[in-house]
Amino acid sequence: MSGTEKTIPRYRPIQRVWHWLFTLAFFVLLFSGLGLFIPAVSAFTASAAGRLVHRIAAVVLMGTPVLYLITDRAGFLQLIKDSFTYDADDRTWFRHFIPYVFGKARNLPPQGRINAGEKLHHAAIIIGFVMISISGLMLWLATMPPTLHMLTLIIHDVTMVLLAVLTIGHVFFVFVYGAFSGMWNGSVTEAYARLEHPKWLAQMQAKK
Ligand code: HEM
Repeated sequence: MSGTEKTIPRYRPIQRVWHWLFTLAFFVLLFSGLGLFIPAVSAFTASAAGRLVHRIAAVVLMGTPVLYLITDRAGFLQLIKDSFTYDADDRTWFRHFIPYVFGKARNLPPQGRINAGEKLHHAAIIIGFVMISISGLMLWLATMPPTLHMLTLIIHDVTMVLLAVLTIGHVFFVFVYGAFSGMWNGSVTEAYARLEHPKWLAQMQAKK
């Protein structure tokens, strides 16, 4: 972003704090969970200290959306609503997905505050979050028969793998399309907003 480029405010400081806290907890959980399968580190991750680290990160992960709701109710509810609401432009957007993946998006149908791909990503994260939290709490707190325990463990692990794959995609698109500044310093360039979120840009300009 050059010093003279026009920028548009996108994420408030508190939204950025919760996003990065959630991300930190997510990676601690991912690596402390994956570590159980890696012989070089499994002695630590399976130890009392390793299990404590996993549980502390789990509490932070589950607590962050609650803190988001308490501190920025409008932002939180908007995220939930937008993630599960798709208009005709969003449905057409999915037809441009292949060129979009290769960073060659042209003539995209106009998108609102979050584009159709982000909506799908965020919706999957929300569903995955609910599944990982419920299965994690069951593994932590419930005494289950062996079959149910094994099923819960499989759901927990598979959900985490899917969330990790989604995160790789999320980070890929963030950098291909230059969205990072929105979550870093709170603003995006007008050029980015015009390409990715023209309906949202028009709303922001009308508000001024
Ligand atoms: C290094 C890792 C990450 C980077 C660089 C990153 C970057 C970003 C950026 C730039 C945005 C704003 C996109 C926009 O302007 O539309 C965003 C939003 C978001 N990201 Fe990430 N992210 C990361 C990790 C994660 C993880 C691990 C998750 C969840 C598993 C996640 C879930 C979300 C969600 C749900 C939003 C929407 C937030 C809201 O509307 O309040 N991110 N991320």
